[in-house]
Amino acid sequence: METVLSGIRPTGNLHLGNYFGAVQSFVKLQDEYRCFFFIADWHSLTTHPRPENIRQSVKTILAEYLACGIDPEKATIYVQSDVHEVVELYLYLNMNAYLGELERVTSFKEKIRKQPDNINAGLLTYPSLMAADILIHKANKVPVGKDQEQNMEMARKFARRFNTIYDVTYFPEPESFHFSDKALKVPGLDGSGKMGKSEGNAIYLVDDEKTIRKKVMKAVTDAGPTVPHSEKPEPVANLFTMMEIVSTQDTYDYFNEKYNTCEIRYGDLKKQLAEDINTFCTPIRERILEIAADNAYMDKVARLGAQKATESAARTILEVREIIGFRP
Ligand code: TYM
Repeated sequence: METVLSGIRPTGNLHLGNYFGAVQSFVKLQDEYRCFFFIADWHSLTTHPRPENIRQSVKTILAEYLACGIDPEKATIYVQSDVHEVVELYLYLNMNAYLGELERVTSFKEKIRKQPDNINAGLLTYPSLMAADILIHKANKVPVGKDQEQNMEMARKFARRFNTIYDVTYFPEPESFHFSDKALKVPGLDGSGKMGKSEGNAIYLVDDEKTIRKKVMKAVTDAGPTVPHSEKPEPVANLFTMMEIVSTQDTYDYFNEKYNTCEIRYGDLKKQLAEDINTFCTPIRERILEIAADNAYMDKVARLGAQKATESAARTILEVREIIGFRP
């Protein structure tokens, strides 16, 4: 049976980008595959969070994973730092990861622009840690959004390189998995780019109805089309993309037709979009609040996940040690 794996950095709450880019695939795949979904707390250290923030954010993501429908009976849900074998594999992969290729990774270049006072080695070797996360369970499929494509290419490269150096066919080359036919970039509603926590434009699964309405009503638009069937400029296209994701086909078609005939009223579109986002988020928000209050349950899930993930990771590390030439 093929293995599916993915992770999310604990840097606050899950937003619609995380959900539609990744988590909805987790829920879909857990019935058919051997699945590992983890909370990437080591990755979050690149920005030097305070201990209390890590503790809180890990709890938050765990509650939100569960509220979204990831079932700990079907999938292994774990916290990355509970599985020490990952660090050993990270070390081995780093020995064959080269400065030039790591420096060329776009997200590294972006990070050094954003945090010039904190260009640490963890940032540089982020792709090797991510590859270690994936290869430690010999995962075949990795559900991620479009922004992770380059990291996925690096993971494939490191897997291939290990196999070549040691002349083995040990690690599978992991491929990205998408819920729809292509990788998804959920847009922000502030005019341009993707939805993201650091972009300050995120709608969170835990947001209440009023907050969601306020965020959507503030979305950037333009004066409206004057020529029938004209192309949608980015801020408006983003609203439609969001509508395609959360609304019914009929709703999308209705507003698309209004746009094409230059009769669109953005106020109406936003009201409908806010309502559709609320219809989606409200039951999840209620489950998040319920689960987050149940510390004993979350503790049990994390403990069981740590045990199952460690068993799988320990098997890989034993084999990797032997391949490399260490005493088994
Ligand atoms: P992270 O924590 O930034 O994001 C988690 C997941 O959400 C997706 N995502 C989006 N998808 C579509 N549109 C958006 N606007 C959007 N924003 C976020 C991301 O693509 C991702 O799938 N490096 C990873 C975490 C990680 C990981 C791994 C993932 C660490 N090790 C191993 C897979 C396998 C990250 O920073 O994702």
